[in-house]
Amino acid sequence: MKGIILAGGAGTRLYPLTIVTSKQLLPIYNKPMIYYPLSTLMLSHIREILIISTPEDTPRIQNLLGDGSAFGLQLSYAVQEKPEGLAQAFTIGRDFIGDEPCAMILGDNIFYGNGLGAKLSAAKRAAEKGEATVFGYYVEDPQRFGIMEVKKDGKGADNNYRVLSVEEKPKIPKSNYAIVGLYFYPKGVSDMAARVKPSARGELEITTLNDMYLQENRLNAQLLGRGFTWMDAGTVESLRKATNFVCMIEQYQGMSISAPEEIAFRYGWISAEQLAQSVKRYGKSPYGEHLKAVLEDRIII
Ligand code: G1P
Repeated sequence: MKGIILAGGAGTRLYPLTIVTSKQLLPIYNKPMIYYPLSTLMLSHIREILIISTPEDTPRIQNLLGDGSAFGLQLSYAVQEKPEGLAQAFTIGRDFIGDEPCAMILGDNIFYGNGLGAKLSAAKRAAEKGEATVFGYYVEDPQRFGIMEVKKDGKGADNNYRVLSVEEKPKIPKSNYAIVGLYFYPKGVSDMAARVKPSARGELEITTLNDMYLQENRLNAQLLGRGFTWMDAGTVESLRKATNFVCMIEQYQGMSISAPEEIAFRYGWISAEQLAQSVKRYGKSPYGEHLKAVLEDRIII
């Protein structure tokens, strides 16, 4: 299974913060934003990841993450010339994806919660069986998101819900469940994405792609209920909230969340020597200190 991080967009809603840097490199508390979606894909046991960004930002992200070997990953990079919609990621990534299922996460989406791993595994299993999965999160402002209506008592195998409809930013939403920026698709997603027509706002909408799977009866939903936090950090206010949230969690727990090197080490993807190199790279920063505690076996889970 392959993975894509879509880290595009000009980030104009964050100006002047994003005039000379990428939104996805801004800090969420003590680490760059992109570490969070990267961790989520890694928790899905995905190791081949394509990062798609703007012509200006792609080299900046590459400077930070390199070829991925420090994280036990194979990272590659591609450019989205213009922000023409999320579904475009699958045509840009066609060669990378090949004949495999593929997950995509948006570069500003942050997921946190106990039990996330099981939901990601269910989505992966479904993708391998030829079905797509979206994730739903209760929001109070459903006009701002892709929205799905699910069958209330329709929970089936793997806790998948049946989706009844999907709509992008509806004026009169049928539910409060936002389709968040993490999607799992079966093999063939590039061909499917190539058939998506631009919407009224001129974008190749991910919601149109999801609707195509729904029409073929191949769309599942996992709901992120109480105990899960999802945020997108694309505005000044949501960036502040995300920083406050991560700060609070890390200070209560006394340890970092979403540390890609830690995940890689625990999964056996990097050696103790490689982790030691990262500890050295990050120096005396709180993030570096966290990795040191992992290396010295002071943190067990
Ligand atoms: C995009 C998608 C929308 C989804 C949201 C999640 O919205 O189009 O369906 O709910 O990401 O972050 P946009 O960021 O383009 O407003």
